[in-house]
Parts: sequence; structure tokens; C-alpha cells
Amino acid sequence: MAEALIRVEGLDKAYDTAAGPFPVLRDVNLAIRPGEFVAIMGPSGSGKSTFMNILGCLDRPSGGRYFLAGSEVAALDKDQTAALRNRTIGFVFQGFNLLPRMSLADNVALPLIYSGHGHAERRARAQEMLDKVGLGRYADSLPSRISGGQQQRVAIARALVNRPQLILADEPTGNLDSHTSEEIMGIFNALNDEAITIVLVTHDSNVAAHAKRLVRFLDGRIVHDAATPPRQGSDTASHFHLLPVEGGRGEDPPSPLSAASPSHPLPREGGRGDGSSLLPREGGRGEGPPSSSEASPSHPLPREGGWGEGPPSSSAASSRHPLPREGGRGEGPKC
Ligand SMILES: Nc1ncnc2c1ncn2[C@@H]1O[C@H](COP(=O)(O)OP(=O)(O)O)[C@@H](O)[C@H]1O
Ligand SMILES: [Mg+2]
Repeated sequence: MAEALIRVEGLDKAYDTAAGPFPVLRDVNLAIRPGEFVAIMGPSGSGKSTFMNILGCLDRPSGGRYFLAGSEVAALDKDQTAALRNRTIGFVFQGFNLLPRMSLADNVALPLIYSGHGHAERRARAQEMLDKVGLGRYADSLPSRISGGQQQRVAIARALVNRPQLILADEPTGNLDSHTSEEIMGIFNALNDEAITIVLVTHDSNVAAHAKRLVRFLDGRIVHDAATPPRQGSDTASHFHLLPVEGGRGEDPPSPLSAASPSHPLPREGGRGDGSSLLPREGGRGEGPPSSSEASPSHPLPREGGWGEGPPSSSAASSRHPLPREGGRGEGPKC
């Protein structure tokens, strides 16, 4: 069995408050192997975000041990921790957290600044990642010009730009309608098919059903940890098509991401190089960002479901299919 990518042992966390220490996590033990897709659920206040912040090295536990990619995080200094976090983890948040005055490409490229890449490489990598989530044509647009679901895709592109082994996503569909959530989950499924490890917090059992393992928190403790049951109903048979190649007009069958060398968690250099996209092209025919009527600048997070407004391309239509959990997934070797 592969060494755990994440291992926590006896983790405790208490926040310092005026009234004294406020315990939030209590004796949490968990190991996550490379290639897993884990959903974390639990009531509000049960400690999920606190746990994710610790996993992401954004916060430190009060007690217990945390090993990330074989390193005990507590033994690292600040710079070493930042370097480990940068090369290992991509974050996706509920609120997208894009910088409003920066282009999508600059938003996606942001994590590369800290990795010391030059401008041309940053731009090329950002473009590659935007292509991957089907938004390459909007590279120079501002976040306010695209829908919330598209913004989350940009945030996923940003999370991928350092080619991390692990994506940590805290309520990534919490601001999205159910249809758009399914599309976002399609991206996570496809990334997991590329052997990227995913740990995702959600309050939505439909979202959690995309994961392969479900962990439940209650009052700061893990109270459930098991494989997710197979998805029920008609969705089960047809969830997530892998989506067409950017600019490919939708005629070509998409190259399954899982076929793109499943033994390679992520193309480390040069990317997939085939321009393949996790999602269809946006906005129809490449005429630029959605019109201001579609995404009014006065609405920083325009309404969802924007894909339904234009004539859906065949690729957009295909993206609406909930996609197969079986058949396309799970065949690639998980480490
Ligand atoms: N920085 C903080 N200082 C004090 N209490 C906090 C802080 N962050 C979170 N909490 C409290 O810790 C508990 C767990 O919060 P959180 O981890 O955000 O839960 P969840 O994500 O499951 O809703 C809550 O009671 C919350 O109010
Ligand atoms: Mg939370």
C-alpha cells in the first residue's frame, strides 16, 4: 500500500478566545493515500474548515501530528512549509477568491509568482490551465465578466497551475446551483482520474456522492469514514462525460483524461500538450467573454446557469449529462 499523502494522528485544535481555549478538533486520526477522492461532511461548526486549513498548512494544530507527503509539517520552518504547500497543494474555496482587477490569466498565474517562474512561462502555464477548464478564450477577461461557475473553474485552474498532487476544496460548490455544481464535480472527477488526490468539504450529499470515500465530522471528531455507496438512480449510469477539446467544435470525441497516461498524476512539464479540455468551450463560438448583459459588472458574481442562455453548443449540451461513475473512472491505477 502506498504511503499516505496525508496522515494525521491524534490531531487537536483549540482556538484561543477571550474566554479561554475553544476546542474545535479532538483526536482526529486519518490517512489519505495518493489518488483518493474524499468528501468531508458534517454540520456547520463541526470543524471541517479548521481541519482543511491544517491540511493546507494554513493553520497549525494545537496537538497531534500531521504528515504531508512524508514530511512532518511541524518539523518544517515557515519557508519549508510554504514550499511544501506550494508544490503539493492546490486550494479551491467556496467564494472563488479571484482578484477582481486581474485578468483570468493573471489570477491563474498568481501561485507561480511564488514559485519563481518568469513572466512568459507564467502566462503559458496559465493559458494551459485555462484551456484545461474550457476557458482559454477568456484569458484576458476580468472575473466580473464571467459567471460564478466559470469563476470556480478559473479558481480550479489556479489551483492546478503548480501541478499539485492534492486539491483541497472547501465547499467549492457552496455558491453554485445544482447544475453548475455537477459541472464542477465533473472537473474534480476528471482530475481524480488523472490520479490527483482530492479532499473536498461539502454539505451536499449529491456532491459528496462523487467522492469515493466519505468522512463525517461531528463536534470536532470523525464519526464516520467509509467508501461512498454507489450513486443511485438514473445519474448512476451516466455521470460526467469527459469534455471536448477546446476549439474543437465538439465534433471530435474528447480524449478521456484517464487515457492521458493515468500513471502520471499530472503532466509535470509541458502539460497535456493536446489542448484538451475538461469542459467545453464557453460562450458559444469564441467571440469573447459573455456580454455585459450576461454578466453585468455590477454583479461581481453573476447568476449561475449562464450556459442555458445562449444556444448551447453540442459540447455544452453534453456537459449537462451527469456522467458515468462506472466505466470511465476508477480504472487508472491508484497509487
Ligand atoms: N479563528 C477562530 N477563532 C475562534 N473560533 C473559531 C475560529 N475559526 C473557527 N472557529 C470556531 O470553530 C468551530 C469550527 O469552525 P469551522 O472549522 O469553520 O467549522 P465548519 O467548517 O465545520 O463549519 C466553530 O464553532 C467556529 O465558530
Ligand atoms: Mg467551513
